[in-house]
Amino acid sequence: MNTVGQPADRPDGPLKVCGTARYAGDFRLPGMAEAVLVQSTLPRGRILRIDRAGALDMPGVAAVMTHLDAPRLPSKGRAAKDRVLSLLQDDRVAYNGQPIAVVVADTRDQAVAAAREMVVEYRAETPMLDFEAARRSAYPPESVQGKEPDSERGDPAAGRRGAASYLRAVYSTPAEYHNPMEPHATVAAWENGRLTLYDSTQQVSGARKVVAATLGLDEDRVRVICPFVGGGFGGKGSVWSHVVLAAMAARELGRPVRLVLDRTQMYGPVGNRPAIEQTLELAARSDGALRMVGHDVLAETSTLEDWDESSALVTRMLYACDNLWTTHRLLRLDIGTPTFQRAPGESTGTYALESAMDELAWELNMDPIALRLRNHADVDPERGLPFSSKSLRECYRVGAERFGWAARDPRPRSMRRGGLLSGMGMATATYPAHRSRASARARLMPDGTALVQSGSQDLGTGTYAAMTQVAADALGLPLSQVRFELGDTELPKAPISGGSQTVASVAPAVRAAGLDIRRQLIELAIGDPRSPAHGVPAGQVRVEDGRIGRRGHAGGETVQALLARHGGRMLEANADVAPGDERKRYSMHGFGAVFAHVLVDPDLGEVRVPRIVGVYGVGRLVNEKTAINQLAGGIVWGLGMALTEAALRDPHDGRCVNGDLAQYHVPVNADVGGIEVLAVPEDDPHVNPLGAKGIGEIGITGVAAAIANAVHHATGRRVRALPITPDKLL
Ligand code: MOS
Repeated sequence: MNTVGQPADRPDGPLKVCGTARYAGDFRLPGMAEAVLVQSTLPRGRILRIDRAGALDMPGVAAVMTHLDAPRLPSKGRAAKDRVLSLLQDDRVAYNGQPIAVVVADTRDQAVAAAREMVVEYRAETPMLDFEAARRSAYPPESVQGKEPDSERGDPAAGRRGAASYLRAVYSTPAEYHNPMEPHATVAAWENGRLTLYDSTQQVSGARKVVAATLGLDEDRVRVICPFVGGGFGGKGSVWSHVVLAAMAARELGRPVRLVLDRTQMYGPVGNRPAIEQTLELAARSDGALRMVGHDVLAETSTLEDWDESSALVTRMLYACDNLWTTHRLLRLDIGTPTFQRAPGESTGTYALESAMDELAWELNMDPIALRLRNHADVDPERGLPFSSKSLRECYRVGAERFGWAARDPRPRSMRRGGLLSGMGMATATYPAHRSRASARARLMPDGTALVQSGSQDLGTGTYAAMTQVAADALGLPLSQVRFELGDTELPKAPISGGSQTVASVAPAVRAAGLDIRRQLIELAIGDPRSPAHGVPAGQVRVEDGRIGRRGHAGGETVQALLARHGGRMLEANADVAPGDERKRYSMHGFGAVFAHVLVDPDLGEVRVPRIVGVYGVGRLVNEKTAINQLAGGIVWGLGMALTEAALRDPHDGRCVNGDLAQYHVPVNADVGGIEVLAVPEDDPHVNPLGAKGIGEIGITGVAAAIANAVHHATGRRVRALPITPDKLL
């Protein structure tokens, strides 16, 4: 192992810098037509009349598809266990922005212009768009991310009676939207009853499965290709309506069809983080020991299906407390269905829990880190299992030192810088270490280069870089001799790039395939009288930097030379690797500590964040550069969550009124101060053969709480509704 851990450059970097990386919408096929979605303009009702004549008369228009003429699908648009899609199968409108027609033309401009000529009349029904009013009808979902919606342990009432301090606080977080640089895009092409999709997706194999089921095709008649994704964040973890609509339009028309969503269309029909209200109850002894924890979650979903936001799952696991309850409830609104959004559950859950812990520390007159250490969970309190590894104490220690926590005067409003109020806050970060079954193939060519493949995805996170490193080390080749391919259902199957599990799942398969080839090489060498490793015991053969020889002896010969003497053969290996029962014996999570310094203008209420320090125990970093980058990216999103991001829904028509990058404020460079990310060394022999925990999502967790806690420290004001905009501090 010699390249794993290094800050290697991305092999795909030059392609991206030069603009030659082909994203889904960059695939141009001969005869390709351009499709655009027509969306509903009211939140609930039925389509009485939809007139496409005006659109069909427009220049370049090839087809208009509505619910009156769209092909009937065997599945009625509902593929088992996946999203309920809007595939023009009936006249029902369930949210504002729902796809109700597709216009296809020779050029995108023509399609956009023609879409404006569509005439739609509705029979409006009274929508339910008010979180407060819908509260009465809240109900428990069947499950939350596969777990029971409610949990209880010990005797919470007794715990509270024995406590010296008790607090109850309600935290609310708004609907948020994914804003990847690359919007959703699909190119669909049919040939002899077979469908090829170029789609921006977090799972090519999942997209194939859902699209095939929805269209009533065998899976082997669908191929999904996705070499690059310009950001997914969970939004591209599901197949949404436009993907299947593009396939339907292409089949009807007999031409390839490209369908790209515009930025505004990203706010409605493709999922988002739901608005959530969380109630925390904490009771503690005077020494800080938690005697009771209660966490009730109320989240919005659509009328189409339950999206079960899992914000209280983190509370079941994070602190040692014998007496605890959690509940999850949903309320239905006439909105598009929410979905995964970076650390779904943990990002909002840690905001509420870690804000409440800060409030408790203040009540108890205790240092916030000391309170957390007092309640540190040495074993997983929910499952009663040891952690496969946990470096949280170290994260608090290293973070506090690096940040300069000791300089914090604990009294609110006690610190100033210039004319500004200065505040320091901290919070715990955590995210589960998931892993799924994955497969990979490796081929060593006679010229000494290797091609390694897995049907995984690179969301911009660095999968190409990390897998090239893992493969090179396993094969004993230099990085420059290894090429890694992904993003195609023709390749060995890999799981969804979601749940921060790509490296943990795919790397073991890549490594196993590489090691298999190395074993084949060693066998060849041992049996070859002309090899410098001839007759040497297998354990004494060295394969390194593309050369084979004896351990402890310099030189050896190149892999090419060995293969040349064996007929210039290609060596091939396939691996299919699944996690074992270690997941039943250990609780597996990444942990971290986030520290934020804020400056608040006392006259204007403006919050600036000059510095954030995040320290994480996430196992081994496969690529130090992409890993630190990703953790920092998560922190940037946490900053947006804390201070600027909120989707504003028109209370009358349910449309997101700030659905574009000009009005929905994601942090830009000017908003981001210093971000320092450190990973503490952590050896985890159980989590997977690489010892790497996921890093895609933990970065956002804890950040909003750390900033909110710092704002309280700076101002004495506790803001319990994100984002912390200036009006809430005046
Ligand atoms: Mo991530 S929200 O699990 O794609």
